[in-house]
Amino acid sequence: MYEFAIAWEWLAFAVRWLHVVTAIAWIGSSFYFVALDLGLTKRDHLPPGAHGEEWQVHGGGFYHIQKYLVAPERMPEHLTWFKWESYSTWLSGFAMLCIVYYGGADLFLVDRHVLDVSATTAIAISLASLALGWVLYDLLCKSPIGKNTWGLMILLYGVLVAMAWGYTQVFTGRAAFLHLGAFTATIMSANVFFIIIPNQKIVVADLIAGRTPDPKLGAQAKQRSLHNNYLTLPVIFFMLSNHYPLAFATAFNWIIAALVFLMGVTIRHWFNTTHARKGKPTWTWLATALLFILIMWLSTVPKLLTGEERAEAAPAFTRFAENAHFPAVKETISTRCIMCHAAEPVFDGIARPPNGVTLESKAEIAARAREIYIQAGRSHAMPPGNVTDMTADERRLISAWFESAVGETR
Ligand code: HEC
Repeated sequence: MYEFAIAWEWLAFAVRWLHVVTAIAWIGSSFYFVALDLGLTKRDHLPPGAHGEEWQVHGGGFYHIQKYLVAPERMPEHLTWFKWESYSTWLSGFAMLCIVYYGGADLFLVDRHVLDVSATTAIAISLASLALGWVLYDLLCKSPIGKNTWGLMILLYGVLVAMAWGYTQVFTGRAAFLHLGAFTATIMSANVFFIIIPNQKIVVADLIAGRTPDPKLGAQAKQRSLHNNYLTLPVIFFMLSNHYPLAFATAFNWIIAALVFLMGVTIRHWFNTTHARKGKPTWTWLATALLFILIMWLSTVPKLLTGEERAEAAPAFTRFAENAHFPAVKETISTRCIMCHAAEPVFDGIARPPNGVTLESKAEIAARAREIYIQAGRSHAMPPGNVTDMTADERRLISAWFESAVGETR
């Protein structure tokens, strides 16, 4: 059933495409509104209930925007809502989590040197952590500490650092970073779904019924929106990080994650201050650069990589190691791939195994069978630029190996 491997790869691509597009739409509109909000000016001639206004120019026209802090006196005929940007980002992101990390749990989610759990247990931990994260966050915001903006932020930072550490104790480094992103993004989407939009709906209902809306509803939504604002950049970092092993697969990955959250604050602070026309706090860029340098340095501190090597392939992959083509495949990989894909690569300019992929042992090759098939059998993405002169016959061998191994067991 090699068709399945190919369809799976395309499904992953399609969902990733969707996820990136929806995320751009969500983050774009969120950045736009934060900047708009901070840039509003108060004037005398504003209509009753209006709090500030701004003039903007874009795409050949001028826009005159006014903000009503609680609500306008009468309901406008048409209201544009901003919610599907957020929901569709979460839904497509969750679909990707299922495709890449739950579908490929034995390789991408579970690292038996970190914690020896079954794929099912790991998936259960993953789902539970995302749900509990929101419950805990929401309780903290609604507790008495929630009234103190900075106290709450510091406490939430502590929770995020604890999660960064916790995830690295359970999953592969790659999955740990991805989960930290998903944990944070779930809080952000849930803020929209459970607080921001429902509060807004109550305000709208009050307006229609002729009641004066409670300003507390708006204030609560504003607090959640502020958190979302500071969390956006770290989430994007974590989502992209799975292409950069120095970030997720080095000894101090969880401390790196903790520093990334701080960079989210230092960068956003510059934009928030500038958009509010309160000066340009250049020091935030210096702080960001120092944090980034610290992260780069931390990634070089040596790690007892993944402990001793597994000699035997994990049960999920034995069919690839026991296949009749395997010896020839291993031979091909030794001549065409391992100069780069080794714990200590010998290829000029490659200091670490690319994307953390090592193909030296039987177990490693068997576990990566599907990726090898896609990268070097069905496509010629690897070796890059065919630098090691892989032949067409060798690619056919890799395809035959994968296709016969998956065929055998179905
Ligand atoms: C010249 C060095 C080099 C050689 C030789 C090489 N690779 Fe790679 N490989 C890389 C680099 C660099 C990357 C990271 C590419 C990226 O991040 O887009 C990579 C990534 C990969 C990945 C992970 C792809 C992903 O998206 O995570 C796989 C699997 C892989 N290579 C398999 C192979 C196989 C199989 C061979 C031999 C047929 C091979 N490579 C030969 C340099 C090499």
